[in-house]
Amino acid sequence: MSLQTRLTELRDQGLKDIQSAENSEMINDIRVKLLGKKGSITEVLRGMRELDKEERPKVGALANKIRDELSNAIVTRQNEIEAEKIAKKLEKEKIDVTLPGVPVKEGQAHVLAQIIDEIEKLFLGLGFQIIEGPEVEEDHYNFEMLNLPPDHPARDMQDTFYITDKTLMRTQTSPVQARTLEKHDFSKGPLKMISPGKVYRRDTDDATHSHQFHQVEGLVVGENISMADLKGTLELVAKTIFGEDRDIRLRPSYFPFTEPSAEVDVSCFKCGGKGCQVCKQSGWIEVLGAGMVHPNVLQMAGVDPDVYGGFAFGLGPDRFAMLKYGVDDIREFYLNDLRFLNQFSQKG
Ligand code: DAH
Repeated sequence: MSLQTRLTELRDQGLKDIQSAENSEMINDIRVKLLGKKGSITEVLRGMRELDKEERPKVGALANKIRDELSNAIVTRQNEIEAEKIAKKLEKEKIDVTLPGVPVKEGQAHVLAQIIDEIEKLFLGLGFQIIEGPEVEEDHYNFEMLNLPPDHPARDMQDTFYITDKTLMRTQTSPVQARTLEKHDFSKGPLKMISPGKVYRRDTDDATHSHQFHQVEGLVVGENISMADLKGTLELVAKTIFGEDRDIRLRPSYFPFTEPSAEVDVSCFKCGGKGCQVCKQSGWIEVLGAGMVHPNVLQMAGVDPDVYGGFAFGLGPDRFAMLKYGVDDIREFYLNDLRFLNQFSQKG
């Protein structure tokens, strides 16, 4: 058989094989078999040595042409195979965007966070700052700077968890008063702030006591601030949280950091003041403590009590929520039972 015939045969068979190759491996095998170092075409080219001088260029030209033809066919088929592979993958991974999605359950703020939010909104509207203080507090701020020196009997009511002798879990948000007073620059205007947060007591937990609960502290200090300002501010709080028709009343009380001090009652939102079970027939419900900032507290924080004065208050969002929603056990707020918490939907 002449070399020309052998070459043409190899080409025809090669093209057929290339066409029917189904994957890259098959294509690669064919390339090696035809065009590799020991491939059939290479072998034919080696046989050219035995040809006549005139024959050689002719056969050489044909061999080159066929080699090019075959390698082009290989590249073309290889590309086809790649394209088919991608098309198949795309087909398999097709996403049906019309399928219904997996619903994401929408959460909501905890009922206590809702109450605190409401209070924050009210006070932001009155131009107050919202300031947070540390929960691990120094005895210095939690007691001493609030006019409760060591051995002050009022410390007994607020036993807590001690970290060291002089650091403790704060028993009240009142230390933020002292921290803020120390920093405030009164030449820039009065100080008006609230401070919401968690507080801790070494209480035995029961329906009305929890070793951890919440407070919102309030403090206004400046020039010419009177108890009337305190009453007006607290009236707004009562109306915002418990309803437009609420009144408040102040009863004399005692806190070491205020003088005079007051317990603040709100008129019963259940009976409107006539007397019922909720208000224990009195028409009033005690909701918070307040008073005019004690001169010692100002003095210790470096504020001149002869020039500046003001009021402070401390309220309990837990107690507010219990009263507002008729919850009879404070521990419910901390159990994280969704059946309980979902009752306080913000949308509803
Ligand atoms: N810190 C007080 C407590 O935990 C509450 C309180 C009462 C805060 C009167 C005040 C205040 O700022 O003026 O019992």
